[in-house]
Amino acid sequence: MPNPEKLTHEAPKVLIPEVKIQARIIELARDISHDYQGKEIVAVCVLKGSFIFFSDLIRHLELPLTCEFLGVSSYGNKMVSSGEVKVTLDINEPMENKHVIVIEDIVDSGLTLTYIMDSLRARKPASLRSCSLLLKPDSLKTEVEIDYLGFKIGNEFVVGYGIDLAGKFRGLPYIGYLEAGH
Ligand code: IMP
Ligand code: MG
Repeated sequence: MPNPEKLTHEAPKVLIPEVKIQARIIELARDISHDYQGKEIVAVCVLKGSFIFFSDLIRHLELPLTCEFLGVSSYGNKMVSSGEVKVTLDINEPMENKHVIVIEDIVDSGLTLTYIMDSLRARKPASLRSCSLLLKPDSLKTEVEIDYLGFKIGNEFVVGYGIDLAGKFRGLPYIGYLEAGH
């Protein structure tokens, strides 16, 4: 795990270039638009990390939709998910009888997405699915279903395209990784 104390201005190495992300988003949007044909959806942006992916994805969806924003953060500033999720911004709109898709940036242990799905399911949506740009399959600690997945990656700590390390690097247009020793 890179040490946030030692962050430099050095650019992270490219893991997934911008063009590959954008091409995959078009494919995901096509799948979602196809699956929800004739329906209206509620797209839930999980803040903060998903805001760029969410914004790019919804602009390719050929569906009527509304946007909701759910703020979550792991307790404290720990880099390893505890599974304890703190809601920093809740959704006030009713989800009952709506077709809800949760848009996440990255699934690591799976505990955050599981928590979000369980809490939204309790609001009785007509349907509930998940979409994540990234998955670290080797890190999963719980069974979590991702209905629409961008890319599987290894165990490297990634940043960019909305994803941060200690709040930094969100503005990079690509998914990068930081080498140990940073
Ligand atoms: P999970 O509960 O372990 O699946 O945690 C998912 C959350 O952990 C993500 O939404 C990120 O906030 C954070 N996270 C996991 N892996 C990374 C990473 O490689 N870079 C940055 N944040 C990460
Ligand atoms: Mg996230």
